[in-house]
Order: sequence, then C-alpha cells, then structure tokens
Amino acid sequence: MYSSLLVSALFALLGHVQALRYLGRVNPSTKELSWPGTGVTFTFTGSKASIGLSQVTGTNSVDLVIDGGAPTVIPNVSGASISTPAGLSKGTHTVVLRKRSEANMGSIFLGQITTDGTLGADVTPQRRIEIIGDSISVGYGLDGVLPCTNTAALEDNPKTYEAVAAKALGADYSVVAWSGKGLIRNYASSSPDTSPLMPELWTRYGANDADNSYTFPAVSTPQAVVINLGTNDWSYLGVRSPIDASAFTSAMVTFVRNIQKRYPSAQFFLLNSPMLSDTYPTAADAQKTTQTNALKAAISQLGGSAVHLVDWPTQGADVGCDYHPNAATHAAEGAVLAKAISAVLKW
Ligand SMILES: *[C@@H]1O[C@H](CO)[C@@H](O)[C@H](O)[C@H]1NC(C)=O
Repeated sequence: MYSSLLVSALFALLGHVQALRYLGRVNPSTKELSWPGTGVTFTFTGSKASIGLSQVTGTNSVDLVIDGGAPTVIPNVSGASISTPAGLSKGTHTVVLRKRSEANMGSIFLGQITTDGTLGADVTPQRRIEIIGDSISVGYGLDGVLPCTNTAALEDNPKTYEAVAAKALGADYSVVAWSGKGLIRNYASSSPDTSPLMPELWTRYGANDADNSYTFPAVSTPQAVVINLGTNDWSYLGVRSPIDASAFTSAMVTFVRNIQKRYPSAQFFLLNSPMLSDTYPTAADAQKTTQTNALKAAISQLGGSAVHLVDWPTQGADVGCDYHPNAATHAAEGAVLAKAISAVLKW
C-alpha cells in the first residue's frame, strides 16, 4: 500500500493517468473521430493490440504509430478493427492512432480496445495547444502535387504546421479545423455557403455534434491557442465583394474574447495566411498585407500581452492540391510557430 501511494504520487507529478486517452476533441459518449488529428493513444504490455471500430462512415485516412516509429498510413479505414502489425515483440508498446482526414470526409466510431496482454498507464503531456483553422490547418491536399483532386488519403493532419510545432514542443494538440470555413464568411462559392462559421463550430465536441456541446474539460484546457483563419474570408473573385477588413478585425476580437472566457490564462497566436499574396487576385487588393494588418488591429484592440502575431509568409510555387501548402511549407512554419510559442510560454 505504501508503495502504491508512492507510485500514484509519482504519476500525479507526471500528469493525468488513465489506460487510454483520446486525442483532440472526442466526445466520450459517441467515441467519434470527426475532427482532423483526433485519435486515441494507449500503452500495453503484450505482443498485439486491436482498436475496435463500431462504425465507419465516408472515407477516412489515419496514421497508426507504434512506439514513436514511422507511421503506417491507412488511406481508407474499413472493417471492424485496426490491429498492431504482426510480429511485434512481446513487451511494452505505445500505440497512437490519429485521423489524417477531416470531418466532412467521414468519421470513425471507436469500439473496444483489446490486447493479448494488459493495458498500462498513460502519461499525459502537460503542455497543450488548441488549433482553430480551415483547410490549411486540416492539411487539405498536403500530400498531393498541384494539379490534383483532394481526397481523404491526400489530407495529412499529422504533417501540418501545428503537428510539427506540437511535436517540437512535446505538447499535446487538439485541432478544430474544417476546410472552406471562415471567421465571418466561408469560401466564396457561386451558391453562397451559409453553413456554420468557425466560431460556431468551435463550440462543438465532435464536429457533427450540436452547437455548444463541447464541455471544455479542465484536463484539456490549452495554454496556447492558435487561430489560423481568413483565407476563405478573403476569397471573393467573381462571386462577391472583397472583404471588409474591419469587420474581420471586430469578429476576431469577439472570438478571442469568447475563447478567453473558457481559457482565461491562454496565450493566443494568430497566424496570417500562406495562401494570400499581395499580387493575387490584384495588386490593388494587397490581400496579404490587408489580412496581416487586420490581425494586427485585432491584437491592438484586444490589448494586454496575451495575443501574438505569427507570420506565415506567402508560400512558394511548390504546392499541394488546390494551392494548399505542402509538407515542406508546413514543416517550415511549424518551426516558426514552435519558436513563437516557446518564447512566450518558456516551453
Ligand atoms: C473507401 O472504402 C469504402 C468501403 O469500405 C468505399 O465505399 C469507398 O468508396 C472507399 N473510398 C475510396 C476513396 O476508395
């Protein structure tokens, strides 16, 4: 008894301990992997483990990582379970399953996790980052080479800038991102997209759950919140008027204040868009500068020292599907974001 008290005291120092841990926003009542980057991790002692799937909808790509090794990519999850690879030596292993693709492609509903051995304790990282974004933060088309058509298999959330930064910082991360979404208006399409905007979706536990369903569990409260929105708000050509940048600024101020009600101690990192440039669609639009200035204005209106601009320069000519940043562009910005968070939070 004395020693088990010692062991629990030790675990208390290391963090929250449980046999399996969901990654990102996974509603425990549905066990639905909807948001990109959602998944599950656990440690077991044995030679095999299996993650049951109670239902799979649409098309979903996932990474399965054993003991921190290279990911096994499953481009289209199907069947009743995902198992660890054959031939694993008997011992203690850590399994991480993460979704690469996003909610609008499909969902995976988890079932039972089983092993031929025993499940062990999980040690939760104490550093947590929440990312709120659009297709860029999804990893849309990241593994494609323009010209290509995006698919679930070409989306690659584990290679996004946020995953790169989190890994560099030893942080856990939760992604709330959806392609085409904006802060005040969604992507410009010929029939206007009146579906929910990102601030509304942010209130959901699973991406397909009701608004205001997220319970903001204390164990998941992030110290760093990254917001990367605006690329879709700025789109307009041939469909609608250019954005009113001051309306974007006001909405960003309101959104950050709403998030601060849930995470009063968080530091905020606002990213500008690598997909906006000062030459497209016209030099007069100066979209890159206009968006950057709108973010700076929001930071100034918010005051204090909790909100920071992180520059993501206009990307180069090597791009993924539909001009989205590729793995190299994400990796470069991941290092920039990690440095910015590290400087502010002393991580
Ligand atoms: C993924 O698999 C399902 C069947 O399990 C199939 O209906 C679907 O077309 C597949 N998607 C792709 C992109 O291959």
